[in-house]
Amino acid sequence: MSRFAYVNGRYVPHAQASVHVEDRGYQFADGVYEVIALRNGLPVDLGLHLDRLNRSLAALFIDEPMPRRALVHVLRQVVKKNRVRNGIVYVQVTRGVAPRNHPFPRHVPPALVITARPRVGPRADQVENGIRVLTMADARWARCDIKAIALLPNVLAKQQAAEAGAYEAWLTTPDGSVTEASASNAWIIEADGTLVTHPLGQAILPGVTRAVVLDIARQAGIPVTERPFTVAEAKAAREAFITSTTSLVLPVVQIDDVVIGNGHPGEVARRLRALYIDHMSGKSAGWDAEGHLGS
Ligand SMILES: Cc1ncc(COP(=O)(O)O)c(C=O)c1O
Repeated sequence: MSRFAYVNGRYVPHAQASVHVEDRGYQFADGVYEVIALRNGLPVDLGLHLDRLNRSLAALFIDEPMPRRALVHVLRQVVKKNRVRNGIVYVQVTRGVAPRNHPFPRHVPPALVITARPRVGPRADQVENGIRVLTMADARWARCDIKAIALLPNVLAKQQAAEAGAYEAWLTTPDGSVTEASASNAWIIEADGTLVTHPLGQAILPGVTRAVVLDIARQAGIPVTERPFTVAEAKAAREAFITSTTSLVLPVVQIDDVVIGNGHPGEVARRLRALYIDHMSGKSAGWDAEGHLGS
């Protein structure tokens, strides 16, 4: 099936979709992005993603490329043209095209690219058996709360993990705390059953899945604490897992060379994954772009 991308006002065949060499995203990584899950052809938690997109844009002083209603229309067209049922839609906004110079260009509109594709995320055996993560120093900048396209430290971390046969990298501070993972949020479950994840702030991305899972857990009566946890705590935890738009809730069964629990996906992580999948198929999926938790 042929694929289409939206590039600065035009729907173009994917193979010919390109941006200018002086797009500031290309030259400076001067832009932001969102990845939104598609379930049965509908976006999941669209409003929460578009709210975060606007927060990222505002933090970098980039104008919104178009009003929200128009953006939702274009997203819908891209999903429709690509006939994606289950997959993702990707949105990237950069500061636009201008002769290369560090200060912001004046009177330059932001550049907007949207693509969609099916089948992303972990393999069935990784969901079934759980994954291994590798811990390493968090080498990112001081504003990890902005979903910026500048992902070089994340790319290097994920590559290092992949070369060691691990699915993800858990990023650590000098005091031994885990902030998050290279492309997901990190969680543990303590011996007493409390769910622990790093608090919001500039050290982590405010994951949409993280917010929804916190909500789901509270509704299910699972105790939750938002505080930093250490690698040592994680290795002694009853369970561990990651959350993201593409991994959903994915159990972690090994951290570095330490097996977590009995080495199989934990009961709470499996339950949260099932509840999250229900959430994806429920009223959180749809083109209503109001930013609210859909549960
Ligand atoms: C660094 C980082 N943390 C967390 C997440 C999870 O965010 P979300 O649940 O919104 O996909 C991502 C997703 O790409 C990420 O890149």
